[in-house]
Amino acid sequence: MTTPMSRRALLGRGLVAGAGALALATTPGRRLAGMPTARAATQRFAAALPIPEYLVDADITLRAVAADVPILDGPPTRMWTFNGTFPGPVIKRPAGQTTRVTVHHELPNEAGSLTIHNHGNHSRPSEDGQPGIHAIQPGASRTYTYELMEDGAPERGAFQWYHDHSHHRTGRNTWMGLVGGFIIDDGVDRSLGLPDGEFDIPLIVAERSFDQDNQLVDGFTAPDRENRTVLESIGEGHPPFDEVPGLGQVVLVNGVPEPYLDVAARRYRLRILNASNFRPYNFSFTNGMPFTQVATESGLLPAPVEHTELLLGPAERAEIIVDFSALAHSTVELESRMQTSESGVPSVVPATPPAIAPIMRFHVGAVAQDPSVIPAQLRPLPDWAESLSPVPDRVWAFGLGTDEAGRPAWTINGRTFDHQRVDARPVLGSSETWMLANTTSVGISHYIHIHDIDWLMLSRNGQPPLAHEAGLKETFRLDPGEVVVVGSKFTDHLGHYMLHCHMLEHEDHGMMAGFEVVSPD
Ligand code: C2O
Ligand code: CU
Repeated sequence: MTTPMSRRALLGRGLVAGAGALALATTPGRRLAGMPTARAATQRFAAALPIPEYLVDADITLRAVAADVPILDGPPTRMWTFNGTFPGPVIKRPAGQTTRVTVHHELPNEAGSLTIHNHGNHSRPSEDGQPGIHAIQPGASRTYTYELMEDGAPERGAFQWYHDHSHHRTGRNTWMGLVGGFIIDDGVDRSLGLPDGEFDIPLIVAERSFDQDNQLVDGFTAPDRENRTVLESIGEGHPPFDEVPGLGQVVLVNGVPEPYLDVAARRYRLRILNASNFRPYNFSFTNGMPFTQVATESGLLPAPVEHTELLLGPAERAEIIVDFSALAHSTVELESRMQTSESGVPSVVPATPPAIAPIMRFHVGAVAQDPSVIPAQLRPLPDWAESLSPVPDRVWAFGLGTDEAGRPAWTINGRTFDHQRVDARPVLGSSETWMLANTTSVGISHYIHIHDIDWLMLSRNGQPPLAHEAGLKETFRLDPGEVVVVGSKFTDHLGHYMLHCHMLEHEDHGMMAGFEVVSPD
């Protein structure tokens, strides 16, 4: 890129989220400045946390339907949902058991075609919900088949999620609500004695902006909607974060703003998914109490890691064990706040700062029987993890450039996404080491997701990975200038996959590349 882009040009293409002031949602259901609200403010921590419906059968039906979803006080919010709820149902299936998910596209024609990605799963390319192939037209259906097998064995248990992955429309479609959880259950966690059953709670965290009629406002992917004046008024300076509509002003947990959950005074397992389009969250408890991370997005860590705060970017997941036993008959809140120096994550303001917001409250009841334990060792890494080369086979640079027409765009190795182009051909059965580098000149983080397989982080900026990143993962934080080296083994499936930034406006504006797993002969 040779000419500097104006702030407005960047905004128009969803590019800006650099340094800047932030003060998100200090009042419940806070709206954009200049957007009067017709409703009374929602009482903070007044609504119970809903638990999504669990679907557990081998044959699962998801209807992509428009629905009026009650979220804020006042009128419901028209969303595009799976089965009428936001988030959609949690699919929970035993590892190694073939699962067929039939998606019926019943959305209005303006939605265009859909393609549903089971994020984190080791799916064949035809079942991977990729942009541009096997798209589901309005009125049509498609069945995705997942064997839930990997390298000759049942897939490792993990908290995955499914979402639309349409070319140029992933941001809009997930913002509209096409999101749900997918748990692969392999029983290892139960055999270890981790909290289970009713003490195992999914927390799907996602922010949205609403207009005065409680309808969704999406400033990034629909710049011509009424919020356009907000974008224009930002001008050339750094926009305050809470005035960029694409980031969302109201944080929802399982679809509800600032809910509460009644818990017993014992250990719980919280499966946290950052399902936001763009923003990281730095999770922490208001009393500063420690909690224990047992899993990443790719399942159990080799050993538990204690935190007092945990940064999760878009698409990252963490399973944490929280011990409420010392808090009988009191309350504590989960919040997202600025990072301190915990866990070695830099205390400097990151280029893409986390949301500053209350998340939810826990009402702790009486002390309860608690047979759960957190063993000192959880799950060993797969065998291939021991023989990875530290020397990168490939380098992927995430930057700002131009598209074919010369317009500003997000790029990987200087190029925007083209489904026909293959940028790497790893050989089936081989292991490779990849270097991911944030070379973006305007200081901004990226969160890089790689399809098909899980990866082991070998280094971050030449240093050993942080303890909670030293397990299998498939989404990686890349702060400005950072270099992360990861390794993995390509198993089972030949064909085309992608890697991309999971800040969806970056993905939709080019920051995606294709690789093809090829046969050794
Ligand atoms: Cu969750 Cu390719 O995405
Ligand atoms: Cu990005």
